[in-house]
Amino acid sequence: VKLVTTHQLLAMKERGEKISMLTAYDFSMAQILDGAGIDVLLVGDSASNVMAGHETTLPITLDQMIYHAQSVVRAVKRAFVVVDMPFGSYQGNSSEALRSAIRIMKESGGHGIKLEGGAEIKDSITRILTAGIPVMGHLGLTPQSIYKFGTYSVRAKEEVEAQKLIEDALLLQEIGCFALVLEKIPSGLAKKVAEQLTIPVIGIGAGPDVDGQVLVVHDMLGITKEFKPRFLRRYADLGDAMHDAVQRYISDVKARGFPTADEAY
Ligand code: KIV
Ligand code: NA
Repeated sequence: VKLVTTHQLLAMKERGEKISMLTAYDFSMAQILDGAGIDVLLVGDSASNVMAGHETTLPITLDQMIYHAQSVVRAVKRAFVVVDMPFGSYQGNSSEALRSAIRIMKESGGHGIKLEGGAEIKDSITRILTAGIPVMGHLGLTPQSIYKFGTYSVRAKEEVEAQKLIEDALLLQEIGCFALVLEKIPSGLAKKVAEQLTIPVIGIGAGPDVDGQVLVVHDMLGITKEFKPRFLRRYADLGDAMHDAVQRYISDVKARGFPTADEAY
């Protein structure tokens, strides 16, 4: 099997083949997703929520992101691995951003990084790109700035915000990002952006008219149960399956049904 590259992702957009992307934070899960043939794995800072139980993505550290990314990279044989830069690791200035990005690439073995924002972080992105590090942009709902907005509601419904998003998307392409994530925006706006850009646009809650889709894997597998936005389709109920399996195990242990003689030495 050959590794997925940024060039192949671009070629997929050109021939109209949709790009599949999911998050992964650990070795075992990444092995399953990569084995199933996923194109891109995102070591998302959603690890802060899903793995660590924080309410927001703000607390996760660069060291913690690198640990998750190392685990994912060890499992991957084919997928392109993108690692989120955590809050605070790139907003200060461009040399801090470059230093953080280099740490991620060097210590985790990931293939590229993602950061949230447009014009505000232009210098940081440009600087990271000079080191030959592929950068994926992220616009629309940007969870690292949750306290600026106060809610996780749909973004860019108003004309002014929609116009800024389009300008930011064009800027990210112009400075050299290889792809862009659009999170929770009206599908009409996402369609417009995907049509205007030559780089792949990956949506989450951004409708069908973009170049690919991304979901948080624990959400689409039904492991997280409280989170149910409209855009989320559950492809399995693993949370229920795991709950049942654990209850059967507990019963067996209590009833001395496990282990049997065959399961002992
Ligand atoms: O951290 C994450 O999971 C993400 C995706 C939702 C795009 O950034
Ligand atoms: Na993220």
